[in-house]
Amino acid sequence: MREDNAERHALFAFAVLLLLLVGFTFFVVSIVRADNSQASAASTSTFKTKCAMCHGPDGGGSAVGKTLNVPDLRSPAVQKLSDAELAQIISDGKGGMPSFKGSLSEDQIHGLVTYIRSFAQKK
Ligand code: HEC
Repeated sequence: MREDNAERHALFAFAVLLLLLVGFTFFVVSIVRADNSQASAASTSTFKTKCAMCHGPDGGGSAVGKTLNVPDLRSPAVQKLSDAELAQIISDGKGGMPSFKGSLSEDQIHGLVTYIRSFAQKK
């Protein structure tokens, strides 16, 4: 009789542990997901406030940008650059493109590189 109870307790404890583990996994996954979408929302607004005045909201180039000869960020010429090259250009500037290392963090620049990649897929 007593042994029976102990077995049931062990089974119960095991089931609770399993449930906790599953719950925890969902919890972590949901945090990671939320974090990702937050990061991309942040990059969207960074791009709109810091880059769109020259590159246009879709990377195609604004009216001002066209007078400066901005390249189309959706074009293969830009998309073939590596993430490191893109990050470097955003950080140090190039020609008429201003440097952003003083006003953007490395994380923000990295987010913008990912954001620029998303232009290519939309086309
Ligand atoms: C004042 C206008 C201006 C702003 C603001 C601006 N850019 Fe540019 N950008 C340029 C110009 C001009 C070029 C072309 C530079 C060259 O090739 O000489 C350029 C080029 C680029 C290139 C491509 C470089 C290459 O070699 O093909 C990328 C990527 C880029 N900009 C990203 C950004 C991002 C991200 C931001 C916002 C953080 C931004 N730019 C803000 C004017 C601007």
